[in-house]
Amino acid sequence: MQDLRIGIIGVGQMGADHAERVVRRISGARLVAVSDPDLPRANALAESLSRPAGIAGATGSAAATGSASAQTGSSAAGGIRVIEDPLALIGDAGVDAVIIASPGFAHAEQLMACLEHAKPVLCEKPLTMDTESSLRVVEAEHKLGRQLIQVGFMRRFDPEYAALKQLLDSGELGRTLLLHNVHRNKSVPETFRSEMIVRDSLVHEVDVARWLFDDEIARITVHAPKPTSLVANGALDPQLAILEMASGAIADVEVFVNFQVGYEVRCEAVAEKGSATIGLGVDVLTKRAGQWGGAVPEDYRARFGTAYDVEVQRWVDATQRGEIDGPTAWDGYAAAAVCTAGIQSLQEGRPVEVEMARKSEVLG
Ligand code: NAI
Repeated sequence: MQDLRIGIIGVGQMGADHAERVVRRISGARLVAVSDPDLPRANALAESLSRPAGIAGATGSAAATGSASAQTGSSAAGGIRVIEDPLALIGDAGVDAVIIASPGFAHAEQLMACLEHAKPVLCEKPLTMDTESSLRVVEAEHKLGRQLIQVGFMRRFDPEYAALKQLLDSGELGRTLLLHNVHRNKSVPETFRSEMIVRDSLVHEVDVARWLFDDEIARITVHAPKPTSLVANGALDPQLAILEMASGAIADVEVFVNFQVGYEVRCEAVAEKGSATIGLGVDVLTKRAGQWGGAVPEDYRARFGTAYDVEVQRWVDATQRGEIDGPTAWDGYAAAAVCTAGIQSLQEGRPVEVEMARKSEVLG
């Protein structure tokens, strides 16, 4: 079987990480093109990844600050072409499949173009910025009669989350009643405002709750407790969300994106006959200089590196078979609907019902 020729749109932090992954760790695939309005960044990345691993030079997101001169149109560095226009990359005959890692506001148009050109796509979350545009994407894909979109909810591919899902599904602990989630980042840029905490961070636990309970979220309340004084932009951080499932089960989520310490994601499931917790970070415990403990990951790339590798490898393998193997456009739509209600809850200080189309009416 021929290698899957992948094009990546948006090569900032996440896109550069995926680019390095495809080049260095994924089998059955080749990175053939990248696109980013920041041309020096795209050029630097293409050049650095065209060098064999281990040769000095910028790699991954470090390439983002590279000083390669800006070019226009399409250029190639060692086989990885830089195509300025993302829609041209999607339509390019030399690109078999696309990874979208542009900011959320660009996803809707780029997803529609992937559908138009029948290109399989792994789209980073959020699917789109709101419920309506997400539903349009779901409907357009359904019309094609083939699933082409997979959404980047990578927690589903993390070995710990996967083991938790397997345990809960086995029924060994009885029915699952509650989920307690913690999602903390060391810090985020000042441009990361209150709504983004819902749409870009909480969205992961929205998907986790839907996936672990295998149920839709009927109602969401997002509380804004006393905010940290360590962010200058007035963002409501931390936030505490209550997700009420259609079955009556409940998930709570603390999201705190300026926690200062490091990246921490935890989930405890409480069931009828026991509980199970993941994300305790108890890897290697060391004792030194009068203290004991372990390390806190710096960011999501360190904590979820394996999950991203598994996610992309399984997406490549499934794409070669003409399938997807992970969260669907519907999952992205459902998460967008919950986050839209969550932002309203945050703004109005009250619980908000989630408004969603019926799956059977949209997908038959
Ligand atoms: P970033 O700001 O580091 O990078 C975004 C890149 O996209 C920049 O290089 C920018 O120049 C480029 N860009 C801007 N407008 C564009 C357009 N119209 N078309 C193509 N490229 C465009 O952002 P980051 O953190 O890399 O996030 C990118 C996406 O990945 C977002 O959807 C974000 O939510 C998602 N993400 C997912 C994570 C996960 O754990 N699954 C973690 C971090 C981000």
